[in-house]
Amino acid sequence: MTRFFISLLLLTATTMAEQVSAPRALVGPSPVVVSLDGMSFNKDVLPILQRNCQTCHRPGEAAPMSFLTYESTRPWAKAIKQAVVTRKMPPWFADPGHGSFRNDPTLTQQEIDILSAWVDQGSPEGKAEDKPKPVQWPSGWRIQPDVVISIPEAHVVPAKGSGEIKAFTVPNPFHEDTWVRAIEVRPGNASVVHHVMVQVPEDTPAPSFSWGASAAACVAAPSASLVQQDFNEGLPASIANRLNGSPPAPQVNLPKNFAILEAVYAPGAPPMDFGIYDSAKLIRGGGDLRIEVHYTPNGTATSDQTRIGFTLAKEPPEHRFITLAPKSLAKAGTRIPAGEANWETRGELEFGQDAQLVWLMPHMHLRGKDMRFNLVDPNGRSQTVLDAKFNFNWQLGYEMDNPIRVRRGTRMFVVAHHDNSANNPYNPNPAAEVGWGDLTSEEMVLPWFGVLVNPDADPEKILSIRQGGCSSGLGSVPIAPLRVPGVSAPIPALPLPTLPLPTLPGR
Ligand code: HEC
Repeated sequence: MTRFFISLLLLTATTMAEQVSAPRALVGPSPVVVSLDGMSFNKDVLPILQRNCQTCHRPGEAAPMSFLTYESTRPWAKAIKQAVVTRKMPPWFADPGHGSFRNDPTLTQQEIDILSAWVDQGSPEGKAEDKPKPVQWPSGWRIQPDVVISIPEAHVVPAKGSGEIKAFTVPNPFHEDTWVRAIEVRPGNASVVHHVMVQVPEDTPAPSFSWGASAAACVAAPSASLVQQDFNEGLPASIANRLNGSPPAPQVNLPKNFAILEAVYAPGAPPMDFGIYDSAKLIRGGGDLRIEVHYTPNGTATSDQTRIGFTLAKEPPEHRFITLAPKSLAKAGTRIPAGEANWETRGELEFGQDAQLVWLMPHMHLRGKDMRFNLVDPNGRSQTVLDAKFNFNWQLGYEMDNPIRVRRGTRMFVVAHHDNSANNPYNPNPAAEVGWGDLTSEEMVLPWFGVLVNPDADPEKILSIRQGGCSSGLGSVPIAPLRVPGVSAPIPALPLPTLPLPTLPGR
């Protein structure tokens, strides 16, 4: 059962990455197949495996079986058909109805048909001359790191167990603020490393703040009225009134509501190359770096020493790339009841300045079920930018195909669900009520995302918050209705005037 669910899930990851070494860039699209007769491994199947599967299915990577050769793939033929027909593989959790993502590994229907037909035809190897050239998978670093750090020592991973999230603290290799153009996380043993996060810890520990803990942010600050007028100009009175009933979050920076993540890794993910957006990360100098590694046993006792490489930017970038990690949206004081299969949390952020949204990553714990992100621009138009299932074992990041311009005043609504029922195979204890916190046994609702802003932008001023408690008034704002799994719900189209979006420099 667990195996079933694991393979059904997710994968991939998170990177803003240039697909430098990804197979898509190395192998052309499959030829259009008019007939599914006479499929062979060499001619029809291997090209698909190279493009879509070998990132993980090769020695040293996350998947336990290699699809590099006919010999190693043939025993898995039936399982391959099953995995692709049910869309368990390649792992990907975004609802295809919303957003388009550059790291989407989903097979086309034609590719699925080819793999199935090959299996149905007895999985023949075919002629040697039809075989495509093997992909030159990189061994070693894919970026050229100027600086390499490592977790302090090899960490022992036992053969069995439910996995462990381990946080290491290492000295920050940067003594002053430094522009970094690419970051690569290299697990020492990719088969046991399910995710890695690299972060500059906050100077002072965050007070245990949780959205909804106080209602203060629900009240419009005096300064908000100006912004509000600006918002509502030209809107039909009915809509303007509704927005008035839900005033902009005050532009105050409640301390420590956002952490800044420097890098995230998940299996199969290419390095994070910020250069594709003419951007770079500004890593704060001094202090320590925190490296969190999620270890999952693979059946054999082993060890891992994950390393992280940084390539410095040669010149100041056009944009600053910031990965923002808001604190949990969950409402303090609430608890997920035992057995609850669809616990809903809502939260709301507001952009205090123009930005371009390039990456999204839902983060929850074992009971996480799904997360949806909606942008509502100042004239009320709503757009669902991601609606994704969540699986704890596969922390997946979603890279926008094209950056989404976000005007100051745009709100981001986040709706997440947790499954604390016995139907959730990861649930360690469906009989327990669950509260919010950092422990894996507790829950959280973290909508992480990456934005491009001007290089001199103050990260503290990019967003303001509207605490979870305000979101009950969300009904007044046109967001897409909640979706029932398998039933697609239309986004309500609002007949609103379009305001011109300001142009960000560069793009
Ligand atoms: C991002 C990494 C990744 C990619 C890409 C990927 N897989 Fe997997 N796959 C895995 C991992 C990890 C497992 C082992 C999961 C488990 O069962 O615990 C797995 C398991 C499988 C299994 C065994 C399923 C089972 O029931 O035990 C099959 C078959 C499979 N993958 C086929 C594919 C095919 C075909 C593709 C490409 C179309 C693909 N995978 C792409 C990571 C990946």
